[in-house]
Amino acid sequence: MTNDTGAIELAVIGGTGLYQLADLRDVESHQPVTRYGAPSGPVRVGLLDGHRVAFLARHGEGHSLPPHQINYRANLAALHALGAKRVLALNTVGGITADFGPRVLGCPDQLIDYTWGRISTICEEPGTEVVHVDFGEPYTRSLRNDVIAAAAAAGVALVDGGCYGATQGPRLETRAEIARMRRDGCDLVGMTGMPEAGLAREMGLDYACLAIVANWAAGAGPDPDEVITLQDVLDNVAAASSGLPGLIALLLARQTAE
Ligand code: HPA
Repeated sequence: MTNDTGAIELAVIGGTGLYQLADLRDVESHQPVTRYGAPSGPVRVGLLDGHRVAFLARHGEGHSLPPHQINYRANLAALHALGAKRVLALNTVGGITADFGPRVLGCPDQLIDYTWGRISTICEEPGTEVVHVDFGEPYTRSLRNDVIAAAAAAGVALVDGGCYGATQGPRLETRAEIARMRRDGCDLVGMTGMPEAGLAREMGLDYACLAIVANWAAGAGPDPDEVITLQDVLDNVAAASSGLPGLIALLLARQTAE
């Protein structure tokens, strides 16, 4: 059945190398301005296999925004204002531990925040009630379960679980920083996982991360001297993303069935 007028069933936020959602049809563009300002770019709302989906490129469609300058609050508020209740965050990451080599897809269940100086709450305007949201489980369990089930149904290999370490960027990490993150328990490293996940929780949005491993993090791969190039990152993201439209279509089918 086609949902061409109803609610947005899923919002997808695309990361580095993921600036549009393949197979999105009948696309309308929205340019919402929120109480937090403008999002990274237009929100594209369209149909994927008959399901209404919103897509936003986190860094802007021309990748013009570095991770620390993204207006994470405006991005989520814009999706929320359009009626989205579930957000699938696509995050390009480096792999730290053995299961997370280049081109692997993962759905982490924990995170550690190493970012600084980013606006990380909606509870800071005068008169706003301060809310200390529970964040012990930073990603929404039901949405994670649906992502994992959809991947299995689509025949897309996906690692279930792992800890995402969010770094400040935009530079990549030193080998010592990655060694420390490994000791801390991180499996993946990326620059955009926070404050997005925390803000989604504050806004009451269901939120899960689908991490796309673009490279071994500094010193983590078989060649400790390997230099990470943007071209390798983009090539690996493109190769690893081929299964995403099918996975997302099955995720949408699961949600409708619930
Ligand atoms: N570190 C941080 N962020 C990243 C990496 C990395 O190695 N690769 C892709 N995003």
